[in-house]
Amino acid sequence: MTTPTVLLEAKNLSKHYAVSQGFLKPKASARALDGVSFILTAGKTLAVVGESGCGKSTLARQITMIEPPTGGALWMGGVNIAEADRATLKRVRPLVQMVFQNPYASLNPRKKIGAMLEEPLEINRDLSKAERRDKALAMMQQVGLRPEHYGRYPHMFSGGQRQRIAIARALMLDPTVIVADEPVSALDVSIQAQVLNLLMDIQQASGVAYLFISHNLAVVEHIADEVMVMYLGKAVEHGGKAELFSRPLHPYTKALLASTPRIDPSQRQEKIMLPGELPSPLAPPPGCAFNTRCPFAVERCRIEVPQLEPIEGRLVACHRVAEIN
Ligand SMILES: Nc1ncnc2c1ncn2[C@@H]1O[C@H](COP(=O)(O)OP(=O)(O)OP(=O)(O)O)[C@@H](O)[C@H]1O
Ligand SMILES: [Mg+2]
Repeated sequence: MTTPTVLLEAKNLSKHYAVSQGFLKPKASARALDGVSFILTAGKTLAVVGESGCGKSTLARQITMIEPPTGGALWMGGVNIAEADRATLKRVRPLVQMVFQNPYASLNPRKKIGAMLEEPLEINRDLSKAERRDKALAMMQQVGLRPEHYGRYPHMFSGGQRQRIAIARALMLDPTVIVADEPVSALDVSIQAQVLNLLMDIQQASGVAYLFISHNLAVVEHIADEVMVMYLGKAVEHGGKAELFSRPLHPYTKALLASTPRIDPSQRQEKIMLPGELPSPLAPPPGCAFNTRCPFAVERCRIEVPQLEPIEGRLVACHRVAEIN
């Protein structure tokens, strides 16, 4: 076995937003992302799951260097991005590309497909017009688009085709990491599997690593190697897909799996439904953030923050994990 190539490492990564409470009032701090650690390796997919508001897109914005983290480190190619200067950021930024949820909103309606694909090359590479065109056409073929699509506008394409265009554009600068934030949840169920399979084919061919964000566990089960379950800005369980799906250990992971029908993938579940509400990241509960909704919570859970600890080949942050499983 060859050793896996580490492409990116997040260590205790945090993003706290200063939120205005009103005129003359002190700003509050929203802990959208609160100390998350993981590694992305070549050819592998880490899926990030959790309810709306748990910090998935915030994490995506840190990894893609759209905004700087407020704490922790983000290592890539020997550089800590969290502390990098502008010139370094400019150099490493193209290595991480993003595919967004909505291919209707993420493509410029006034640009032809060819021009859209060539734009990143124009900005970042020193290629002739003909070379740019060749690369765009080759990429179109790789994602299943035909050469005659080169001169067409986004509105002439279906949702699935548009997401193929968005994927092609993300690949133009040969990134080593792609962050995909709900890349198939805006698509018809019949199209979702095609786009997921395309992403998997691309990974096999190029060795790109995916950080794949989704609330849809059926999708995650299809595409992930590893899964990180997040709750209120923190990872509560992190491990291999097979172990996590066959035997979830954290009460929150159990609840997520129980609330999502996975036998029939056509049973599309838009949002994860759990009793009670996700607390505000402005005022997370003391102790374990999940204690307000956890059926197993005891006094200790309301006082002491549980840390991620290794158990059964994965990491779990729960004081009672050994007792309740
Ligand atoms: N710029 C910001 N300023 C203040 N709070 C923010 C900001 N961006 C995000 N948040 C807060 O951080 C938390 C996490 O938001 P985020 O968008 O990362 O969640 P998410 O997991 O992507 O949710 P969804 O599944 O709905 O996309 C939310 O409580 C959100 O209100
Ligand atoms: Mg989001």
